[in-house]
Amino acid sequence: MTPGLFITFEGIDGAGKSSHIEALAAALRGAGRSVTVTREPGGTPLAEKLRALLLGEPMDALTEALLVFAARRDHLRQVIEPALARGDVVLCDRYTDATFAYQGGGRGFDWDLLSILERMAQTGLALQPDLMREPDLTLWFDLPPAMAAQRLATARAPDRFESQDEAFFTRVAQAYARRAQAAPQRFARLDAAQPREAVWAELRQVLAQRGWLPAAVAQGGGA
Ligand code: TYD
Repeated sequence: MTPGLFITFEGIDGAGKSSHIEALAAALRGAGRSVTVTREPGGTPLAEKLRALLLGEPMDALTEALLVFAARRDHLRQVIEPALARGDVVLCDRYTDATFAYQGGGRGFDWDLLSILERMAQTGLALQPDLMREPDLTLWFDLPPAMAAQRLATARAPDRFESQDEAFFTRVAQAYARRAQAAPQRFARLDAAQPREAVWAELRQVLAQRGWLPAAVAQGGGA
């Protein structure tokens, strides 16, 4: 059986990642793969309820971190692990790097404590009991916070995170860079300041280089 593949999409709000997820899902399906598209926080009925609380209700940084990991645990158990066990490609809009970026960088929550919560939430779910579930690839849509702020200014009504100031997003962006530095093989940085078509071409190249998208598909268009 084809082994499962876990790919996450990350970046500050306004970086444009969401528009590429469906396009990649279609390309992978075209190449014969079974694909599960999901998101965090969310992806299960319980986790979607937690998402609404996280994005809507005021709370302190520890409460925020605990809720994010509670949602993640449910999502892993109900959706991500079963899909990987079936051999699916799982495309997930945000995962634990977002917690280090937003709760760690943005809110200033203790990085080591987040690492402990990460181990608690992500270990013991897979077949090997000591395996902590991490993505096989993280597509990091890197965009200067000032450009993201410009894009968000014209978007729909902002949620609790989108309404933060530029200094918050600068800290979030720095935390993403720190995570990328710590796991250079897992992270692929995409220059999200480019036009959408150029970002999409870069993304397809990353997948093709790893042998996860046929070269013919990677060279074609279709974002
Ligand atoms: P996002 O993917 O931006 O959703 P949408 O664009 O559809 O609104 O995610 C929602 C927000 O949740 C985003 O601002 C980042 C935040 N978030 C955290 O603070 N911590 C986390 O661990 C995750 C997964 C997301």
